[in-house]
Amino acid sequence: MNTIIFKNSDEACKKASDMICSVVKEKNDALLGLATGGTMENVYKYIVEEYKNKKVDFKSIRTINLDEYVGLNGDHPQSYRKYMDDRFFNHVNILKENTYVPVTTGDINKELLRIKDIIDGNKGADVQLLGVGINGHIAFNEPCDRLNASVSVVDLDEGTIKANSRYFSSIDEVPKKAVSLGIGDILKAKKIILLAFGCEKANAIRELLKNDFITTKVPCTFLKAHNDVTVIIDEALSKEL
Ligand code: GLP
Repeated sequence: MNTIIFKNSDEACKKASDMICSVVKEKNDALLGLATGGTMENVYKYIVEEYKNKKVDFKSIRTINLDEYVGLNGDHPQSYRKYMDDRFFNHVNILKENTYVPVTTGDINKELLRIKDIIDGNKGADVQLLGVGINGHIAFNEPCDRLNASVSVVDLDEGTIKANSRYFSSIDEVPKKAVSLGIGDILKAKKIILLAFGCEKANAIRELLKNDFITTKVPCTFLKAHNDVTVIIDEALSKEL
């Protein structure tokens, strides 16, 4: 596992953007595995900047997002589809039909099959961006006795609902379920870039970097089974390890 520590999250996001843009330059029809959350906002800001400087071209690029809240349609302000459109897709020359964020308002079983086809059709994403929850979740794979290998509908942890309630007007509005790629889907990616900033993520990152266990109680530890993972953190977090 390759770990890179940056003075601040902004520099870290620039590095992640550079890594994603290199994949786009190498493979013009790459499948990018994308993530949402506060951590990723500046990654997309820098990718869009690269596009505006004519350094990257998205016209044949395809994307798949890790997760979506069940029941939020694409124009809900807190849906991950809207997050992606607002921060990334609407600002580059990507074809909307090549951007895939789980649709969770219709026939979900059909949707799970479609997502599985996209991932398996490409034998996993060419690069997967990942954030991590305070409890170590990746995508919405929450600490549990067993984790899903493939995309499925999952229950959100109470801690995750509380953490994500900062984006909603009240905690009661946070959906309790999500569609999430499974751990196996994530591990199929050819390359994984995980970003985590701030001391509140230290427990999860310590379990990933400082011991040899893989445990369903801290889902990000499954990344130890992959041979091309870059963990990008800031100094504030690294001081707590
Ligand atoms: C959310 C998302 C995750 C994300 C994580 C961290 O619940 N499902 O994919 O990595 O929480 O979010 P943030 O970057 O806002 O801390």
